[in-house]
Amino acid sequence: MAHNPDKSEKQILKECVDQELLSALEQLREELGADVVSKAEKELLAQLRREISVRLEVAATKKAAARNARPKVKPKVEEEFVRFSLMFRIQHIVLFTSCLLLMITGIPLKFPNSGWAAVFFKFTGGVAASGGIHRIGAIGLIGVGAFHMIYITMIKDGRHNFIQLLPRLRDIKDVFNNVSYFLGISKVGAAFGRFSYIEKFDYWAVYWGMVVMITSGLMLWFQDTTMSILPKYFLDVAHEAHSDEGLLATLAIIVWHFYNTHLNPDNFPMSWTWLTGKISNEKIIHHHPLEYEQIIAERKKSTGGNGREHPSSEAREEWK
Ligand code: HEM
Repeated sequence: MAHNPDKSEKQILKECVDQELLSALEQLREELGADVVSKAEKELLAQLRREISVRLEVAATKKAAARNARPKVKPKVEEEFVRFSLMFRIQHIVLFTSCLLLMITGIPLKFPNSGWAAVFFKFTGGVAASGGIHRIGAIGLIGVGAFHMIYITMIKDGRHNFIQLLPRLRDIKDVFNNVSYFLGISKVGAAFGRFSYIEKFDYWAVYWGMVVMITSGLMLWFQDTTMSILPKYFLDVAHEAHSDEGLLATLAIIVWHFYNTHLNPDNFPMSWTWLTGKISNEKIIHHHPLEYEQIIAERKKSTGGNGREHPSSEAREEWK
């Protein structure tokens, strides 16, 4: 090959390699036939494309995680991860149906003289009937609360989730990062692991709410027993605490939980994970990039490869 003085050594080397490859390909075509070689070429190209997109995805996730930001990556292959077990989902369903019942029947009991409460009582069959429905909700809440204690202590999945829900120093950093992002001071928001500080706050607020609402609720429910043990002002305090905390809990759920899980444009109208228990790779990369990295690292350890390989062969076909 004639040497061109303007070309760098790298370029010359590249040309040599290209030429070598081309002549090797020609030789293969002659020996194996054009059909076999072009099929092999296609497979090689598909593999290359796949490898490149995986590397881009890894790079984007890592880059964003390093900047403490949430990556926006559209993976080439759709894959679903299990986020919530069946037991987790059943507890959540019982919890929210009980809470909805309690809130819907409790608030009219707090404002019984208002016009809208009168309409509500007409619909439910009166104040006493509403109180009865309220007590059904209370049984659901107490039941799920008691079961949850068993779940987080005796069941592996529960213990794992509980540990992940414990507050950490990182959560405080995440709050600062996100607030400065919302204020436009920083260009990127926080990147979360399995549970964000928003979800942790939701979880721990329920503990406080349960202790106050169940204790005061039981005192109101069994007034005679309460009065036979304690002076009357204990019952008055319980009534005040139940009434005000009930309103606070209702507003907190509407403002905090409903905004974050339903009205936030990232989730609107809602994610179906509460029902299916599954989350797509696109969503897990965006909402829980650190957990995603951990899952991939663990998969890599157990299977080898880059860890991002989709387990099903149909999905492998989709890469092509
Ligand atoms: C999310 C949970 C709950 C909310 C939001 C809630 C809300 C309320 C509200 C606002 C009232 C009206 C208070 C007033 O008269 O000013 C009330 C009454 C009452 N609540 Fe709850 N509550 C909840 C949980 C419970 C629980 C767990 C129990 C029982 C263990 C309970 C038992 C009662 C009873 C017995 C009354 C009086 C009802 C009546 O007069 O018939 N509540 N609740």
